[in-house]
Amino acid sequence: MKNIRDCFVLNNGVKIPCVGYGTWRTPDGIDTVQAVREAIGCGYRHIDTAQLYGNEESVGKGIKESGLNRSELFVTTKLKNTDQGYDSTLRPFEGSMKRLGLDYLDLYLIHWPVPAVFKDDWKQVSRDTWRAFERLYGEGLVRSIGLSNFLPHHIDNIEVSAHIKPSVDQLEIHPFFTQKETAAYCRRKGIQVQAWSPLGHGTILDNPVIKEIGLRYHKTAAQTALRWELQQDILPIPKSLNPERMAQNADIFDFNLTQEECLRITGLGETGRTGPDPDNIDF
Ligand code: A2P
Repeated sequence: MKNIRDCFVLNNGVKIPCVGYGTWRTPDGIDTVQAVREAIGCGYRHIDTAQLYGNEESVGKGIKESGLNRSELFVTTKLKNTDQGYDSTLRPFEGSMKRLGLDYLDLYLIHWPVPAVFKDDWKQVSRDTWRAFERLYGEGLVRSIGLSNFLPHHIDNIEVSAHIKPSVDQLEIHPFFTQKETAAYCRRKGIQVQAWSPLGHGTILDNPVIKEIGLRYHKTAAQTALRWELQQDILPIPKSLNPERMAQNADIFDFNLTQEECLRITGLGETGRTGPDPDNIDF
């Protein structure tokens, strides 16, 4: 990857820009509109949102105000937990598209594998939801379909009845929570791994080892962690409302970590996830 517009190629041939701009915890409103516009202005071509974030309208406005041609952008949103199921997926999808102001989506993800309301029958609900996703894909409304927070046993369950393979699994991944097994499983299956909270929600920023490795290249800890993710073919989705940090997170293409440096970061030790456990969520 030479710049933020370079792409990974998904298992259905669709190209996906190698760093996404994340919008979790950026509420609907003018700040988000401006942030999305600024992110696009500083080079991001891949914008990630979700029905659950409640900010699709602002993300859509930011996209529109950027003035960029729709075909130059890659836009992802995710289905909310309580809307899983076959029939119940189709209407919320329309709602997301309306709020975003788009007539097609680049990537649609099932946000969580085991919603609290479907805890007892998540296996069937998950497969039904996937069937609805396959329909949206077949109708050309979405260019690719995938999963988020799915561990291997959740993916195996989808694959029992799937006709189309998931293209993506978006997971919490950062130097303190590497999800090695799930990432390796996805790689074997040809599923592109994305990292949400790639900076461990800010927890990696003060780590002396990451800082020291970054200094060798005149880079910050944030840039070093994002580079570490990219060099494992993991697509990071950093989030920042601050234009300087946004630009910093996009400036990770003029250095290469050595294998030894990558291994040092991988070996820092796991402090675990900062977000919910996919098998035990309460929403
Ligand atoms: P801010 O929006 O004020 O920049 P993660 O994506 O791992 O959840 O981390 C997001 C957090 O990290 C946010 O609080 C964001 O704050 C902060 N952040 C994002 N990029 C950087 C950066 N380059 N340097 C320092 N903090 C950052």
